[in-house]
Amino acid sequence: MVEFSEQRLGSLVSILRRRGIILPAFEIHGGAKGFYDFGPVGGRLHRRVIQHWVSHWLKNGNIVELSCPTVTPFQVLEASGHVGEFSDSMTTCNSCEEASRADLILEDFHPNPDALSMEELQDLLERSQPACPSCGQSDWSSVELQNLMFNTAIGSGKSAKAGFLRPETAQGMFTSFPSIYRHFRERLPFGALQVGKGYRNEIAPRQGMIRLREFNMAELEYFIDPEAPLSEEIDGWSEPVNLIADGKGEESLTFSAALKQGMIRHTTVADFMSKTMTFLVEVGIDANLIRFRQHEADEMAHYARDCWDAEVYGSYGWVECVGIAHRGCYDLEAHENATGQRLRAWRGFSEPRIEQVDGWTIDGAVAGPVFRGDAGSIKIALEKLPADVSFPLEVAIDERMVKVSQEHVKRVQRTESIAGEWYIPHVIEPAFGIDRIIWHILDHAFNDTGKDGEEYSMLRFKAAVAPVDYCVLPLFEKDGMGELALKIHQRLCAEANVVSILDGSGSIGRRYARADEIGVPICITVDHQSVEDGTVTLRQRDDGSQTRINISDLTS
Ligand code: ATP
Ligand code: GLY
Repeated sequence: MVEFSEQRLGSLVSILRRRGIILPAFEIHGGAKGFYDFGPVGGRLHRRVIQHWVSHWLKNGNIVELSCPTVTPFQVLEASGHVGEFSDSMTTCNSCEEASRADLILEDFHPNPDALSMEELQDLLERSQPACPSCGQSDWSSVELQNLMFNTAIGSGKSAKAGFLRPETAQGMFTSFPSIYRHFRERLPFGALQVGKGYRNEIAPRQGMIRLREFNMAELEYFIDPEAPLSEEIDGWSEPVNLIADGKGEESLTFSAALKQGMIRHTTVADFMSKTMTFLVEVGIDANLIRFRQHEADEMAHYARDCWDAEVYGSYGWVECVGIAHRGCYDLEAHENATGQRLRAWRGFSEPRIEQVDGWTIDGAVAGPVFRGDAGSIKIALEKLPADVSFPLEVAIDERMVKVSQEHVKRVQRTESIAGEWYIPHVIEPAFGIDRIIWHILDHAFNDTGKDGEEYSMLRFKAAVAPVDYCVLPLFEKDGMGELALKIHQRLCAEANVVSILDGSGSIGRRYARADEIGVPICITVDHQSVEDGTVTLRQRDDGSQTRINISDLTS
């Protein structure tokens, strides 16, 4: 088991910078808090983790990939509730003027400050007087809510419209619902996934890669009929996992058992938790350092009716890396209400339902000339009235009351056969923070001690995500070895999805060490014998073992 320490964290961060894996962005201009670059090696790690994530979910067979804009009009995020609700609690140090998130600086004084109200946070802040993480003083301003979205203007001058950089990729998938519904021939369940940037103007981005202001999100919106029968089958991880429900202690259970006991309330949520676990382990996160924690009622996002976080343990303690939320019909209903567009699916009944209609409608010949443009709205209002009303009465039209008399209406009595109904689908959403996952892949892969206890750095990546597959090393760059190494390197690079680097500088031992530091699983050494008989040495990163093979067998 890895022992996380400040010293180990320092060594890891320094290797990540030095070897071009992850480094602070815009550093030559003094940097900007909450922004990181994936460098020449990290860029590939980032791409591979994303590729693996996309393939993992596409295996489901009923999921498509979307790509929506990151700049989002005001109305979209107003409808989704983000303008009103997407805020964190903030307090400012009166001594150094650094802002902090109130719930985060109170973590040592309460088991889950995220679940506290503003008044409770204020009270806890006054009673516990935490030290400012910047200057160490304890003199705080009142706690207030701070919206986390970055504002922008779409267009210029007087015609500019208010907009935001998206705080989640999800909204583009909800507003695209009609086209996804058509794509799937109007049959649920189905899903849409998207990988892309999300932006949050975090109050205090500390802890390296954990709290960024621009980050990579990978989200799946899975649309279901809430009345469709659910199977009890759960795919993916079948071993027990540590689960924390309802703010109680940890229990080790399989996802199936937790579902049967009612601890996890929905089969699709349980299934996605299980698939999330499989994904995290496949990309190299230690299964023993993962747990799932259910949100307490007061901690839930404004759109969620249930939510489980996958948390991973590492150098920064337990960190949320994935949120799996049951969003109910919240988003589609919100966009439908704001736009008047139908964001629904059709549910056919197994047998048509016969219904007696008994009520009222407008008598067009009499009422049309009287009500003119209002006649259509009055008809809709009248058809919602029960049969036992008496006239005259007033109906509300566009915030006006209009008087309707007996001569304007007709009684309607008939039998209707109803084949089905329109309903708003529910959504189950696994939302992955790719940067936090990459951080933990690195944190768990990092080994800082050699075989004999000496200081030796190695990143033991899983082959599926290793940023570089092969490092080709000519023993010397003479006698044809340099040319042969170059040819092998070029041949490997021409293979689909293979990354090779060529390293001819320094002693062979130093070059192996450099390859280990960026986690290359296999080094290929070209020596004198290679030039004579067409064989090379393969050296495995994890145990240093070496085998000789023919160059022609390399790519197989
Ligand atoms: P936190 O409580 O840590 O602020 P959150 O609950 O706001 O996180 P979600 O809104 O559920 O996070 O976002 C989905 C995922 O996106 C998270 O599980 C996390 O992995 C990632 N994420 C959220 N905020 C950030 C951030 N500022 N930097 C990097 N990743 C983030
Ligand atoms: N889409 C999940 C979130 O932003 O929290």
